[in-house]
Amino acid sequence: MSGVGEREDSVVRAVLGWYETSARDLPWRRPDATPWGILVSEVMLQQTPVARVLEPWSAWMERWPTPTALAAEASGAAVAAWGRLGYPRRALRLHQAAVAIVDRHGGVVPGTYDELLALPGIGDYTAAAVASFGFGMRHVVVDTNVRRVVARVAAGVADLPPSAASRRLAESYVPDGPDAPRWAVASMELGALVCTARSPRCEVCPVGDLCAWRAAGMPALDVPVRATQSWHGTDRQCRGTLLAAVRESAGPVTRDALVSSWADPEQAERCLEALVREGLLHGDETISLYG
Ligand code: ADE
Repeated sequence: MSGVGEREDSVVRAVLGWYETSARDLPWRRPDATPWGILVSEVMLQQTPVARVLEPWSAWMERWPTPTALAAEASGAAVAAWGRLGYPRRALRLHQAAVAIVDRHGGVVPGTYDELLALPGIGDYTAAAVASFGFGMRHVVVDTNVRRVVARVAAGVADLPPSAASRRLAESYVPDGPDAPRWAVASMELGALVCTARSPRCEVCPVGDLCAWRAAGMPALDVPVRATQSWHGTDRQCRGTLLAAVRESAGPVTRDALVSSWADPEQAERCLEALVREGLLHGDETISLYG
């Protein structure tokens, strides 16, 4: 489907106008950003807020300005450079994607959704985002921010789960031509800065007067949002601590030292096994990064 209706068109115009004056100046949005820089940013931003991504993204791009540069190194270098961004399997996925870009595309990030989707570790969202922001194509780019904006403006509910229905709704807003990528990034930005999950700033929203959710009196979600798991003592914290210990040591670390550096050795053993199984670390009695 292409083109949008009159109501959708009014929403799109207003959000694009707002974006022109209110967007953050982020390095991966600048005209000189490369498709590779955009791909790296999208993977880093998937589970991490913008403020925490800025510095690691710049360091990464300085060290590995092209997929070829990254593919020439061992995957352990990518895991080490991931630092404390969290969810470090993303570093491995980027490394695998870089290797495939070199093998299949001569080191040039491919420009179509299908080719991007075929790369290891690249899913629908990232393929659509890179085809859109890196190559100006028209795709439905739906992250949690876009889904929430559309849920509110169009469906009059506080949020919608990922589903075929919410995707169709989002698709009905994607304009034709060069406005398609602009709409994608502008609706994302509106969700990040104004139409936020917990304290929306409707008083400054460019589509406040068009918003079905606001007109309905901003009803809360029927189902309470799942409480987020506290970080302290979780497997995620344990995995992060183990990885940091290996990353920050000059050489391999003994298994015993690693496991006893965490209060619960059984949990540490289990997390270490998982990190080895997933290819983030290797070794038996002594543990190191790949490379
Ligand atoms: N700009 C482009 N993609 C983005 C994203 N995923 N999050 C925030 N800003 C972006």
